[in-house]
Amino acid sequence: MTFGPTQNSGGPNGPSFVVAIDGPAGAGKSTAAKALARRLGWRFLDTGAIYRTLALAALEAGIAVDDETGLAALIQTLRMSQDPDGRMKLDGRDVSAAIRTELVTRAASTISAHARVRAGLLEIQRAVAREGPLVCEGRDMGSTVFPRAELKVYLDADLGARSRRRHEELAAKGQVANLDEIAHQIRERDHRDQTRSAAPLRRVDDQIYLDTSDLDTEGVLARLQDLVQTRRGVSPP
Ligand code: C5P
Repeated sequence: MTFGPTQNSGGPNGPSFVVAIDGPAGAGKSTAAKALARRLGWRFLDTGAIYRTLALAALEAGIAVDDETGLAALIQTLRMSQDPDGRMKLDGRDVSAAIRTELVTRAASTISAHARVRAGLLEIQRAVAREGPLVCEGRDMGSTVFPRAELKVYLDADLGARSRRRHEELAAKGQVANLDEIAHQIRERDHRDQTRSAAPLRRVDDQIYLDTSDLDTEGVLARLQDLVQTRRGVSPP
């Protein structure tokens, strides 16, 4: 899957099935969506990685995070691609690690509030669904990007569980972080995502709410698989 201004034609057929997963930071959306897509043999789209890649490109180009016009123009020049594991390339360079730094995380959270940035990235995301069945995750999948998705899920977990998971992720990468500081950053990001005027993170009526605080990855995956099977009219075993 590749996307960019010159490569967005998509396929001739409508989407066959879209699983739209939304939720706050650290709820395990990416891990669950990626594993579900792999199990189903479907495409996976990590939309946070797209916002992060734009943020990285802006930082590198010296475009300020509050320069909405500059950011909208930058989108038109970028060539991004995402492989089935969610690894991101920017102009052919693998930026998967570079987009996970604290600096880029903050910048992504800020630039994503701009309406013109969101509008510029909308079609890029929709084009992926025209290529075949899709599992995508982000903040506005069910509300804005794929309002007619066949299955919409809101993955949530309490702040403590989300902070601990993020702490463990960082520890696995050999990074030492303070749990309280992580909780503070997550709360700040959630607040920005929920209170912005352009496509805020919110729950929608036709969404299934799934609290993952007490579930491990396999538990979340099993629940998602059941939901997909039920929606497709196939009884779970
Ligand atoms: O999901 P992830 O933490 O990688 O997303 C990075 C940032 O991108 C989020 O903090 C959020 O502000 C923004 N985002 C968004 N809409 C999406 C996905 C991510 O605004 N669909």
